[in-house]
Amino acid sequence: MSDKATLEIHGKTYELPIVVGSENEVAIDIKSLRNDTGGVITIDPGYKNTGSCESAITFLDGEKGILRYRGYSIEELAEKADFLEVAYLLIFGELPTQEQLDKFHADIKHHSVVDDDVKKIIEAFPKSAHPMGVLSSLTSALTAFNPSSVDINSEEAMYNAIVRILGKFPVLVSWTMRKKQGLPLEYGDDNLGYVENVLKMMFKRPGKDYQQNKILVDALDKLLILHADHEQNCSTSTVRITGSSHAGLFVSLAAGISALWGPLHGGANQAVLEMLEAIKEDGGDTKKYMAKAKDKNDPFRLMGFGHRVYKNFDPRAKIIKKSADEVLGDLGVEDPILDIAKGLEKEALEDQYFVDRKLYPNVDFYSGIIYRAMGIPVEMFTVMFALGRLPGWIAQWREMRLRKEPIGRPRQLYTGETQRSFKDISKR
Ligand code: CMC
Repeated sequence: MSDKATLEIHGKTYELPIVVGSENEVAIDIKSLRNDTGGVITIDPGYKNTGSCESAITFLDGEKGILRYRGYSIEELAEKADFLEVAYLLIFGELPTQEQLDKFHADIKHHSVVDDDVKKIIEAFPKSAHPMGVLSSLTSALTAFNPSSVDINSEEAMYNAIVRILGKFPVLVSWTMRKKQGLPLEYGDDNLGYVENVLKMMFKRPGKDYQQNKILVDALDKLLILHADHEQNCSTSTVRITGSSHAGLFVSLAAGISALWGPLHGGANQAVLEMLEAIKEDGGDTKKYMAKAKDKNDPFRLMGFGHRVYKNFDPRAKIIKKSADEVLGDLGVEDPILDIAKGLEKEALEDQYFVDRKLYPNVDFYSGIIYRAMGIPVEMFTVMFALGRLPGWIAQWREMRLRKEPIGRPRQLYTGETQRSFKDISKR
């Protein structure tokens, strides 16, 4: 293959370098296009064809349904690793030794205390506030309590900021849920594993011991691993672009949380469950909802179906579907919603509309069913996604800063009015 792409504009030819990734993905390097051509840009709303960066963190092949973190397949990591190991892997590039992992965990625990004044901020939110809005605000507010900016030239400063947020974030997650439920805002237990501690912080009732349930711990561990990174999706791109202005880590993460909230992104897990509930309430007629999803005059979409990058089964969905069966079986939960989900999936996979558009179930289609079986309220589902995605956002922010990427600042094609004279208000 030539290492140059040729572009002809108005009879003039330009050569653009071709760059090849480590999995042989091919990209045309247009860095000098505007300069060389005297102003020509490319346009690609939604960035369907645009690589925003080079990254060594996550590899995804949407056609083949492959997802790997730092070269390790998602299937292997979900089966063999725990969430904290995966977080270390994503952020620092290699699986930790036992010693590195122990230190990482100890440092995270050491930094998990959240300034008590944060409770006053939580108190100010109405109980009706959506947990994602609260979480984004609290993550941003952490900056006020930890004001020093991260010196990216100091490995130690970078590490300290990372363990701080990994320690404090689960506390914010659990306090967000507990506030909604009117429960006291407490801490967990430093003797527990990261995920066990999250569960204890979320579910411990006042005056009662919290008994760990291995099924729940394993299920949550797996779900968090599956959500931990997904290369340049909407929220991750938001984190990178926010951080590219040299805004701090915590506020860049807060921006990512807001981006994740939308129903086309992380908010889909809540939307899926609400959709399945609505179908159940409506008599379980999946065909009616399939027809709505296909009707171009109806804004309804089959939530949990389709993906910008996967044009094949989302490998995470395969793992989660199996896990949903196991968790519900192990917990002895019979959930009619699971049957509706399976029915809907079967119909969609056989339907020409979905086949033609390569629409398969995505990570969010079955995750809500597991969260529900674990006793997590529907409005918290996207918060759980954020908890899982945290290491990925951190890894991407760190990579972007260490590579000294320029500020993200796309161009546009202006389609508005050309110059005109101001009209006095009496003449408009
Ligand atoms: N139900 C019905 N039709 C759909 C759906 C759906 N869920 N998803 C895509 N389509 C149709 C769409 O109408 C379009 O049809 P046509 O070509 O006739 O106009 C075609 O499929 C292509 O869709 P698109 O909107 O151009 O694709 P996109 O890459 O811009 O959007 C998506 C990807 C995930 C936003 C979209 O599939 C969607 O809205 N899905 C439902 C929401 C969802 O489950 N989101 C979670 C994504 S996975 C978690 C994460 O990583 O964020």
